[in-house]
This record gives sequence, structure tokens and C-alpha cells, in this order.
Amino acid sequence: MATVTESTTISPEMANRLFLRGASPEAEFGDFRDDLQRDGFVVVKSAVPRERADAYAEAMYKWLEDFNLGYKRDDPSTIHEDHLPVINEKGMVFGYGVAHEKFTWDIRQEPGVVGAFEKVYATEDLVVSFDSVNFSFPNRKDLKANKPWAHQDQDPEKPGFRCLQGLVNLLPNGPDDGGLIVCKGAHLLSEEFHKEFINEKRIWAWTKEWYGFTDAGMKWLADKGCKWEKVCMEPGDLVLWDSRTPHYNVSPAETSTQPRFATYTCYLPVANLTQEELKGKKEAFEGVEFTTHWPNLPGFGGVPFTRLDGKPCPHNFKVPRSGKPQLTERGYKLTGIPYIKA
Ligand SMILES: [Fe+2]
Repeated sequence: MATVTESTTISPEMANRLFLRGASPEAEFGDFRDDLQRDGFVVVKSAVPRERADAYAEAMYKWLEDFNLGYKRDDPSTIHEDHLPVINEKGMVFGYGVAHEKFTWDIRQEPGVVGAFEKVYATEDLVVSFDSVNFSFPNRKDLKANKPWAHQDQDPEKPGFRCLQGLVNLLPNGPDDGGLIVCKGAHLLSEEFHKEFINEKRIWAWTKEWYGFTDAGMKWLADKGCKWEKVCMEPGDLVLWDSRTPHYNVSPAETSTQPRFATYTCYLPVANLTQEELKGKKEAFEGVEFTTHWPNLPGFGGVPFTRLDGKPCPHNFKVPRSGKPQLTERGYKLTGIPYIKA
């Protein structure tokens, strides 16, 4: 593992303009940041070069096949939990150390991915989340339905632009294929919305940094003229969204034959983390733990999950199959560890 030899300075003044003044609907940057401010999301094309995106997809297919449970990428009849690791109805994997697999970390360290966040936050001093991976297959009859679960990944009591989320798409992803759906422009209505809905009975959430839209909330968005848009992407594209932007993921339509592979990539400026939070990142990294998309929050060992027979997955393992992460110097800085003061 690389180490950082030179001293690293935290510069709170580097906090980006988006953070300082909140999102503005006015174009100002002449690049993807204008779309992000206006729409609450944007696709950064080819953030990962196609050749490497294809190699990551290959590694992800191999990861599934190497459980040796019978899954074969060319045989759709093997798309069943009997032949796969546990993947929930939303396509998420919360075990097997997948948050620290080699392909997950390699994607996090991709210059075009980190670079997009550097541009938005106007700093190279970033910390990355140890978030999960998505494998969504069409026509999975063995899983319960993935009902719409429109939400924001941000505490309504902490308004303003606070966090930029992202995911890297690894396979062709068209309108009928599963993927991210966003409520275009609704990030700019978030504060108004939460003032009106301050007394509503909330949908339960295990973290304050999550808000679920009720039917009344969905109607409010529709009455405001907000439209939901399925994000379509090519392999290697990165989608970025403001954590206030209402979103969820949809399963592939019945007409789709295309799996969806994606990894979640979210970064915050180091300056936004306390020393305690950075120490939490160290513990999470050394313990090969997951985090949510919030890069500042402590790690957890994964979400308890069982196979269809109700028993814990006997194939689960904490340390990734590829071993503990071997990072570049840039990757190691992204853990936040080098920014811990002695
Ligand atoms: Fe989310």
C-alpha cells in the first residue's frame, strides 16, 4: 500500500462555490456543472474510458461466476439466487467485502471519476465512500418487486447543497433497462417542500440523512410540474446528482434482456470531515467495512442478509476475494487516513 510522505494540508477555504452559495439555476461554468446546478443531475460521458469500463464489467461478471454456484453470464436460466450471491430487489449487494473489491476501488480511483468531483468541489483533497455495487438482472422472478422508493439522501433539517452523489455505469443502459430515475430540477424546490411538509408523518429511516417521499409528497412534486427521468448511459459514463434531488432505482422492464452493473462513487472534501470522522474512516478501511454513500459517516460490517431459505449466506466473507485493497497513493489519500493529525 502506498503511503503519503509529504505533509497534507487541509484547506477549509477550498470549499467550492456550490457549497458556499447554494445551487443557482444560472449557467456559469460552461461545463457539466451548469447542468448539475440547473437539473440536479448530469451524466459525465466516458468518465471511464470504454476499454477499462468493459474490463470492469468483465471483472464483475467473473466475480459473480467465481462463487461457483452455477451462474453463467451466457445462460439466463442461471439468473436465480440459487446460482448467485445475495442481491436484493434493488440490485444491491451488502456482503462479500464487495465495497473493497479490486474493481470497486479501481473505479473509485479512475481519474475521470475523481476528477469530476474535484471540479465540483474545487479541491483535490477528497474522501470517498466505501459504498456498494449494483447488479440488476431482468426478469428476476425469485425476488420481491422493487417498488418505487423516491427519496433524498439528505437530512431535510440541513438544507442547501451538501453532497454530490455518483455512480459509474458499466453496461449499456437504455430506457427499458434498470437504473437511476431522478426528479429533474426538484433539488431547487427542496427547501420549499420541507417547509410545507414539516409536520407530516415521516416514512421511517434508519438515518436522518434520508428522506422518503409519501404519496402526498409525490403529488406536490407533480403539481409543481416536476418530471421524472430515467437516466440512460453507456459503459464508462458517470452520473452525478445533488443529494437533494429526489431519486430511486427501477428494475429492468420485462422487455429488457440487459443486466445493469454499476458502482456507487461519492466523495466529499476532506475539509468537511472532522478528525473524529477521519479516524472513523481509518477504522472502516482497516476493517474492510461498508459505509453509506456519505463519505464522512462511520463504517458498518454490512447489512444482515439471508438467502431465500432464510439462512445466513454460507458463502459470505468479509475480506474481499481479491484480498485487502492495494491502493495507489491517490487511492490511499481518498480513504482520508493521511489527513489524520497525529
Ligand atoms: Fe439514494
